[in-house]
Amino acid sequence: PPMESLLNLDEIEEVATKRMPEKAWAYYYSSSDDTISKSFNNAVYKDILLRPRVFVDCTRCDTSTTLLGGKHKVDVPIFVSPAAMARLGHPDGEAGIARACGRFGAMQVISNNASMTPEQIVADAKPGQVFGWQLYVQNDRAKSEAMLARINAMPDHFKFICLTLDAPVPGKRELDEKQNFKNAVKVASGVKTSGEPERPGGGGVGQQLFFGTAADLTWKVTLPWLAQHTSLPIVLKGLQTHEDAFLAARYAPQVKAVILSNHGGRALDTAPPAVHTLLEIRKYCPQVLDKIEVWVDGGIKRGTDVVKALALGARAVGIGRPALFGLGAGGQEGVERTLEILKAETETCMRLLGVEKVSQLGPRHINSRKVERD
Ligand code: FNR
Repeated sequence: PPMESLLNLDEIEEVATKRMPEKAWAYYYSSSDDTISKSFNNAVYKDILLRPRVFVDCTRCDTSTTLLGGKHKVDVPIFVSPAAMARLGHPDGEAGIARACGRFGAMQVISNNASMTPEQIVADAKPGQVFGWQLYVQNDRAKSEAMLARINAMPDHFKFICLTLDAPVPGKRELDEKQNFKNAVKVASGVKTSGEPERPGGGGVGQQLFFGTAADLTWKVTLPWLAQHTSLPIVLKGLQTHEDAFLAARYAPQVKAVILSNHGGRALDTAPPAVHTLLEIRKYCPQVLDKIEVWVDGGIKRGTDVVKALALGARAVGIGRPALFGLGAGGQEGVERTLEILKAETETCMRLLGVEKVSQLGPRHINSRKVERD
């Protein structure tokens, strides 16, 4: 179907589900164990109510914002979260997502396990287009150090390193494992940038990609090691408690932002959705929000979800599967449609709330009583 006929992210996912190879779909769709965290990620937004103000001039609406301490301007507070193996879903791959992000002024975080090289991905980047590189530190540190050197050498494109911490080992993703996807990783990736797909037999794509990933990272050792190998700001991804957000803020200014995330429910099942962690931070250590930027991802399907996260104090909101399903539904064009819908919905929501600019959003715009029960 023509992409314009698809009206929301669920419809795009439906088309992607029909068009994508089953194994790719299973890898993208899957989450751990009983998929509690994945379901909750989206459901939690439905329990937060908006508090629209009326009699406010809403002729104008500006969704743009700045990230990483005001340094980088983006046209939408929506970014593409790092997700492995985009070419499994469509040959446009990560480069197709990058071109779509370029059109909408959206930031993109490239996965450590991307199916294209960083050079290929940024080849058609617009001036000022912002990318981050996500790192899974490898047991063989020399491999990660070489990758960091390569990213350091592309300062026009890569503005930060995103260190993912919520998956030192992969979650148990049964849908993915069932596919027993032995060789597809190699076939689809063409040029592997890192990771070790040569794990002998069995497991799903997830299990294979994680082979060689380090499980021994710590605050004390890993952050100084990173500082030796890059001067780019660090964004820590996968924080799920206010205690860890508090610790992260102590490592500013090396750490510039955190992404509250449970990995789309693909790591520890029954881990909390980002909204819960954000509410914890507001309650126990709100000063964190002034020291570092807090971004969130997981379960974002609607502009109202985006606006609710921003109103709670998030500076940016990430999409993982929606970008991949956009790609699966229509390649670059499908990702463009995904961003177009989310941006338009975000604008409509802001206007109906009586808000002109992202910076005006605050806790007064929402009623989150139903989800505050810890
Ligand atoms: C991911 N995610 C992820 N995260 C990361 O730091 N590195 C990675 O390589 C991947 N790979 C990956 C593959 C696939 C198929 C998915 C669905 C997810 C997690 C991702 O960055 C993000 O946290 C979640 O996808 C957000 O949830 P939603 O938007 O998918 O609900």
